[in-house]
Amino acid sequence: MRPERKIKSIFTASEIQKRVETVAKEISDAMSGDFLLISILKGSFVFSADLIRSLHSAGVGPQIDFLALASYGSATESSGHVEITRDITDQVEGRDILLVDDILESGRTLSFAKDMLVDRGAQSVKICVFLDKQGKRKVDIEADFVGFVCPDLFVVGYGLDYAHYFRELPFVGALESEK
Ligand code: IMP
Ligand code: MG
Repeated sequence: MRPERKIKSIFTASEIQKRVETVAKEISDAMSGDFLLISILKGSFVFSADLIRSLHSAGVGPQIDFLALASYGSATESSGHVEITRDITDQVEGRDILLVDDILESGRTLSFAKDMLVDRGAQSVKICVFLDKQGKRKVDIEADFVGFVCPDLFVVGYGLDYAHYFRELPFVGALESEK
């Protein structure tokens, strides 16, 4: 059942749209035309879909693959143990990669993905995240491209979930605590 929770808007749909266009321009300035964009599922599917269309407007047409990762834990806290639930199918050896994720928090998910791609022979791995919760890092990793710095609140919408719900919201909001 979908949880009955109030959600307080943090980033509106139009703020997100403008920021995604700017991030796409930053990527087009910094990366060569021929790269492989790897969208980390499930959370980054909405951001990735908007980002690739803004990349097109910025003159960039990457190849695209998907990597599904899960870090099991409670609904709002990850366990730190990351597993591949669906692997990419493209070859990464010698490729320039742009990893795209919804949010960088402890850094464990992206650090796992980056190490895996480097082990498989990627030439370079850059990271783009929609949200960056800067105060929560447990692993030494930073993103090359960031949509928004996110306050230290549990957020949902624009692909981000709480117990697999709320991904469809066109804005990002904080879940208000249960009373
Ligand atoms: P990390 O491995 O701790 O950096 O966490 C990254 C993953 O945890 C993200 O890909 C999200 O799936 C999830 N996550 C972290 N914070 C939030 C949040 O505020 N809302 C929804 N999911 C989150
Ligand atoms: Mg997730």
